[in-house]
Amino acid sequence: MRGILLAGGSGTRLLPLTSVSSKQLLPVYDKPLIYYPLSVLMLAGMREILVISDGRHLDSFRHLLGDGERFGLDLRYAAQDSPRGIAEALLIGREFAGEEDVCLILGDNIFYGQGLPATLREAAGTVDGCTVFGYPVSDPERYGVAALDEDGRLLDIEEKPAEPRSNLAVTGLYMYSNDALICAEKISPSARGELEITDVNRMLVAEGRGRLVRLGRGTAWLDAGTHDSLLEASQYVQVLQKRQGLRIACLEETAYHMGYIGKEQLRALADGLSAGSDYGRHVRSLLRT
Ligand code: DAU
Repeated sequence: MRGILLAGGSGTRLLPLTSVSSKQLLPVYDKPLIYYPLSVLMLAGMREILVISDGRHLDSFRHLLGDGERFGLDLRYAAQDSPRGIAEALLIGREFAGEEDVCLILGDNIFYGQGLPATLREAAGTVDGCTVFGYPVSDPERYGVAALDEDGRLLDIEEKPAEPRSNLAVTGLYMYSNDALICAEKISPSARGELEITDVNRMLVAEGRGRLVRLGRGTAWLDAGTHDSLLEASQYVQVLQKRQGLRIACLEETAYHMGYIGKEQLRALADGLSAGSDYGRHVRSLLRT
């Protein structure tokens, strides 16, 4: 399975923060926002990843992450010249996907929790059609919302419904088997003028090829699309890291933990980070484990 990380969008809800910077490069406590979804793809087992962003910001992403080699990854980049919809990522990434299945993640979605990597790896290994991830929220009308039958099977997904049929939001993480990618070519722009990922997913659900995996209480799902949610995400990461002495979405640690790099490469990464930063000290401390 290959990963596609969609990190474009106009960022208008975050102005003026986003007047010169991409939203996905803004800090969430001690690291750029994009580290969080990138680490999720890595934990799900992906090493070949396409980062899609607005052409204005691509060089900044390249500068930050490079070709991925230092994390044991193969990172590529592609431009989305205007935000024509999340489903366009599947069209832009069509050639990159080749014959492989695809996991698409939105660059402003943060996932964290015990057992999440195993859940994602299981889902990645069994996808047929699409697999989406549901998370209970108190304000489902802001999201894609799942409708389920009594046995918990996925019946439909509605985008920002005025009257949600459940409290299960469909998160910004989607898996597709390779043959399902064709659906992205069949949809038309919605009333808001976007190629909706929900339309791709609905098509597959209608064919009986949609599965929903519930993310339970043990998982946190945050998006960082507004000033408040960006601040709350930072506070969440700060509290957890301080309390537990762990790091969330430390790419160096994830790469080492997943076996994508060995101790020598980790040492080189640690040397490149200042011992004056907490983050750098954390990476150094991994060398002693
Ligand atoms: O966060 C999960 C939700 O994401 C889902 O529940 C919805 O079904 C899905 O439509 C999406 O809803 P949003 O209204 O949050 O999507 P938004 O337009 O804010 O875009 C989400 C991210 O994707 C944002 O960081 C910008 C980026 N994006 C968006 C579009 C439309 C792009 O990079 N390119 C695009 O064309």
